[in-house]
Amino acid sequence: MTPTSYAIADAYINPLTSWPRVVLDGDRVVGFIRGNFDPEAQQEEFRSCIWRINVAADAQGAGIGKFAALALADEARSRGFTRLTVIWEPGEEGPEEFFLRIGFTIIGQTQYGENIGALEL
Ligand SMILES: CC(C)(COP(=O)(O)OP(=O)(O)OC[C@H]1O[C@@H](n2cnc3c(N)ncnc32)[C@H](O)[C@@H]1OP(=O)(O)O)[C@@H](O)C(=O)NCCC(=O)NCCS
Repeated sequence: MTPTSYAIADAYINPLTSWPRVVLDGDRVVGFIRGNFDPEAQQEEFRSCIWRINVAADAQGAGIGKFAALALADEARSRGFTRLTVIWEPGEEGPEEFFLRIGFTIIGQTQYGENIGALEL
């Protein structure tokens, strides 16, 4: 790929509904999670959801992702939501087993064939 094929695309985040947090191990950042809380969202799966979750490659498999997701679930509960949702692409390399393992169930698919998972709070 040549540099001329790169492009800057809009990555708009609504600061009023976004809940971005890092996970610290001491003073080292080992994970990132961004939730979205928007009771007015037209689609139910965007009202209380995990928008993004990442754990540093060398820190995966140690419970950090679960810790971050459950912290977001606590935040959702404290805001009065009864469900936390997340959307992922199915496939062996994806995060499906992680989400199922920590308690999400698959409740449907998006029009693009991604799975919609939900955790009852
Ligand atoms: C998905 C991701 C966030 C998981 O974080 P993690 O810190 O590695 O996961 P945890 O250690 O908290 O795992 C929690 C449980 O899920 C299980 N699990 C996690 N990933 C798994 C996998 N790929 N396959 C099977 N089980 C898995 C763990 O074994 C653990 O089970 P246990 O509670 O019985 O021990 C992390 O692997 C990641 O950043 N992946 C790349 C980015 C990504 O896919 N983000 C999601 C996009 S929506």
